[in-house]
Amino acid sequence: MPTTILSPAKRVFGTRAELRFACQNVLEKNSKETFTIPCEGLYPFQWLWDSAFIAVGWAHIDHNRARAEFQSLFDAQWSNGFMAHIIYHDDDRGKSYFPGSAFQGAARNPYSPTHVVTSGITQPPNLGAMLEILFDKELSEQVKLSPLNTPSVPDPHFYKKAIRHIFRFHEYLYRDRDPHNEGLTYIRHNWEAGTDNCTQFDAIWNTFDPINYDVQRRDTQHVNPKQRPTKKDYNYYLTLIEISRSVDFDEREMYEILPFLVQDPLFNSLLVASGESLARMARHFGMNVIAEQSEKWAMKTRNAMNEKLLDPLTGVYGYFDLRNNRLVGGMSSSNMTPLFAGIPSQKSAERLRETLESLHFAGRNNEYWLCATNAVTDPQFDRTRYWRGPVWININWLIWKGCLRYGFDDLARRIKRDTINLVLRYGVYEYFDPLKSAADNPEAHGFGGNNFSWTAALILDMLAENQ
Ligand code: DGY
Repeated sequence: MPTTILSPAKRVFGTRAELRFACQNVLEKNSKETFTIPCEGLYPFQWLWDSAFIAVGWAHIDHNRARAEFQSLFDAQWSNGFMAHIIYHDDDRGKSYFPGSAFQGAARNPYSPTHVVTSGITQPPNLGAMLEILFDKELSEQVKLSPLNTPSVPDPHFYKKAIRHIFRFHEYLYRDRDPHNEGLTYIRHNWEAGTDNCTQFDAIWNTFDPINYDVQRRDTQHVNPKQRPTKKDYNYYLTLIEISRSVDFDEREMYEILPFLVQDPLFNSLLVASGESLARMARHFGMNVIAEQSEKWAMKTRNAMNEKLLDPLTGVYGYFDLRNNRLVGGMSSSNMTPLFAGIPSQKSAERLRETLESLHFAGRNNEYWLCATNAVTDPQFDRTRYWRGPVWININWLIWKGCLRYGFDDLARRIKRDTINLVLRYGVYEYFDPLKSAADNPEAHGFGGNNFSWTAALILDMLAENQ
């Protein structure tokens, strides 16, 4: 593999130390004391999986602040265990963000909280796995501080409550999102995937006609529309919200009428990882019922993913479209995230590694940074548009950790180097052009929002790790 040489003149940050400092600054600027917004202007509220990733960054700066990030999510949990993808703190009913709380209309659901307004859809359940990173850090630092080197316990009051909140969220997912009791939970909106406009969802958009909305989007006022989902895409997304709103986000009714019900590999992988993390933390505190149930669920989901989502032809995990009873394949970086949760066998994992190193992701001459969100050989690959091509730091971070888990040390090093190089080159952006030569253009810049919180948080984590 040819080594990529960076021309220093084209870097936004000269050194890793400068980058570290910038990342800390991003978190501090985006902090609203008890929660962190993903990005000034573009995403002005609190997002669920963003906050859990962001807490990993805070764990390197201030443990109390990291805990507060989780606590603000738990404070908005619905009484049925559901956790919403947006918490509209200081709600302005849609003035600063579209769709705002008024369009979402989730407050009419009887389980929703009364002290704060949220959306009625969720996001990938990364909370347990991210909380364990903070927990392990607190534990190891306390061990270092303890004069007798006897392990003490990180604040049991906070952690026991946190474990119960996350357990109730998982309980909701297995109860209300697994209609066939297979161990595979479904998402009922593409925003629940986190990978909003990934190419796999095109197959589902082809199955129904959306309403044509004439709305004022805010995202395209902040970001070049070429980097965001199209108007037609938004018509589908808003139609799904409108259908859900028509039944006040009642789970059973939504299951009956929504055209979008998908068993998503990234979502279920994070559920497995979080379930296992929860089990380990619960055991630590003697919460054995939670530990055992979490282990059982994680095992069931792991087996179901290998039986139902793993496509034997490509060796890649696919998306199961429950409404139309079919596996939607394709190759994207989110299909590789089962590595993070230790889901594939060593043999299947080797196949994923080979795919990531092949021309599908690296290009014929290693001309792409790893890991584009869509295979660069896919006719739908689009270097600039949101989840249809660009590199995202959270997905790279998950795959990097997954490679370490399977002993793919060379690939892990390469992904880490590419990830850090991108941010050194372009700045703390939301997503990045995967084509290496694009960075030679002096006008080139990162994509989406700048000073993006989870990029900052996960880069801080990568910089702190030796591996
Ligand atoms: C949302 O509103 O959650 C979308 O993911 C932002 O693009």
